[in-house]
Amino acid sequence: MTKGSQLSSFKNSFIKTHKMKGNKELLSVLNSLLADELTAINQYMVHSEMCENWGYGKLHLAIRKQAMDEMHHAEWLIERILFFEGAPTVSKLNSIKIGKTVLEMISNDDKDELDAVLAYNNAIKLAREVGDQGTVDLLTKILKMEEGHVDWAEIQRAQIDQIGIENYLVSQIESPAS
Ligand SMILES: [Fe+2]
Ligand SMILES: [Fe+2]
Repeated sequence: MTKGSQLSSFKNSFIKTHKMKGNKELLSVLNSLLADELTAINQYMVHSEMCENWGYGKLHLAIRKQAMDEMHHAEWLIERILFFEGAPTVSKLNSIKIGKTVLEMISNDDKDELDAVLAYNNAIKLAREVGDQGTVDLLTKILKMEEGHVDWAEIQRAQIDQIGIENYLVSQIESPAS
């Protein structure tokens, strides 16, 4: 065995022994969170484009930004699954709930965000149980963003309650360029 091949066989066995293998249950939870994120991206993209189509430029941009947040979450989850030598499932979507009105959209999104907060809290609990601090940190970062999404949806619902849907919709008419 040459020095070079000795080194490479040492490297290979080092990698084999030390490469982190993800906990099986945690990997499947990460894949289920990934399906939630991919579903949210699709739902929000459609909602955002519907708002643009109706001329609610402000709402279009706000929902579009959320779709992009979810895209980051999906990207980070895929990255983590690959780090654990798992296979990210990107072909699975949950049911997509498209609202027929702005109020329905916001209510559907609010419910999904509340579910996301619950799902991330449960996943963090599991990651903590298996002693995976890196995943705890990642999921906590995403959880805080999901809480921000809930907050946004609830502010919109409170405004609709207080000023009425017509006034709320008038407040959302803004040219995307402005
Ligand atoms: Fe997300
Ligand atoms: Fe979200």
